[in-house]
Amino acid sequence: MNLKDFLSRNNTDPKLSELILFFAENGQTIKSGFLKSQNKAGTHNIYGEEQMALDKWADDVLINGLKKTRLVRYIATEEQPGIIEIDNPKNQFGVVIDPLDGSSLIDVNLAVGTIIGIYPGTVLDMGKNMIAAMYILYGPLTTLTFTTGNGVHDFVMDEKGDFHLTAENIKMPDGKIYAPGALRKDYLPAHARFIEILEKDGYKLRFSGSFVADMHQILHKGGMFTYPGIKGKEKGKLRLLFEANPMGKIITEAGGAVSNGKIDILSIKPDVIDYITPIYAGGKKEIGLINRYMNEI
Ligand code: F6P
Ligand code: MN
Repeated sequence: MNLKDFLSRNNTDPKLSELILFFAENGQTIKSGFLKSQNKAGTHNIYGEEQMALDKWADDVLINGLKKTRLVRYIATEEQPGIIEIDNPKNQFGVVIDPLDGSSLIDVNLAVGTIIGIYPGTVLDMGKNMIAAMYILYGPLTTLTFTTGNGVHDFVMDEKGDFHLTAENIKMPDGKIYAPGALRKDYLPAHARFIEILEKDGYKLRFSGSFVADMHQILHKGGMFTYPGIKGKEKGKLRLLFEANPMGKIITEAGGAVSNGKIDILSIKPDVIDYITPIYAGGKKEIGLINRYMNEI
């Protein structure tokens, strides 16, 4: 079954369906753009990260496309300094986008992806108010994973750019994979203790440098991903709006959990779009353990 039929079979709101299909179509455009350039753009985003030419190109493709459809009122992306407001929108949706997550891996041909969160209105809202979260992963295959709060579903793109259902109502299995960001020498005590427990318990390390790809693996194989707060950088690295919330929403919908180490990040109300947060995302067992350790301190 293709994505369009799946959305209508599930009685998805027509405007929301249109928006999800917009991102699916543009995922195909982005995938076909990888042959354009694997070079750096020579500029930095507001987080100080070096932008790749493709980061900026994918950002333009999505923003310009969204402006034309006028499906949304607010757009915030990881590559833009502020919220873009669209004149005369057909409805009030707000979208948050990481156009190309993991883009520092483009030049070595590892999997990268596009992450999207959709809100009923403002994007400065709690993650739990998201009405849809999705990502498109560009690996050997191009896949699309999404939730509208009614299960998590996987699709794969065919040679014509159409997405077909491959897994419905995905539930995260138990598994012993851990994907820990940052340097061990900078770990804070509760985090160090947590990682030690996982290692003693036989968890296998798998960290690619692409959050979206690492999370896709955790969703299907179990375990957990973390980019923790560290010495001198207590907030960690990942962005609440563009990365942590949409992926956190998906993993939660699949029976897992997401936390900043103490509380569910989906209940944080951000006051700025560039809000940074430590993240722990994966199985309820693992997330429960780090919450216990951190709240004990
Ligand atoms: O977007 C930020 C990001 O590239 C994530 O995709 C990834 O998990 C993380 O940064 C990798 O960070 P580091 O280079 O510090 O390992
Ligand atoms: Mn990213």
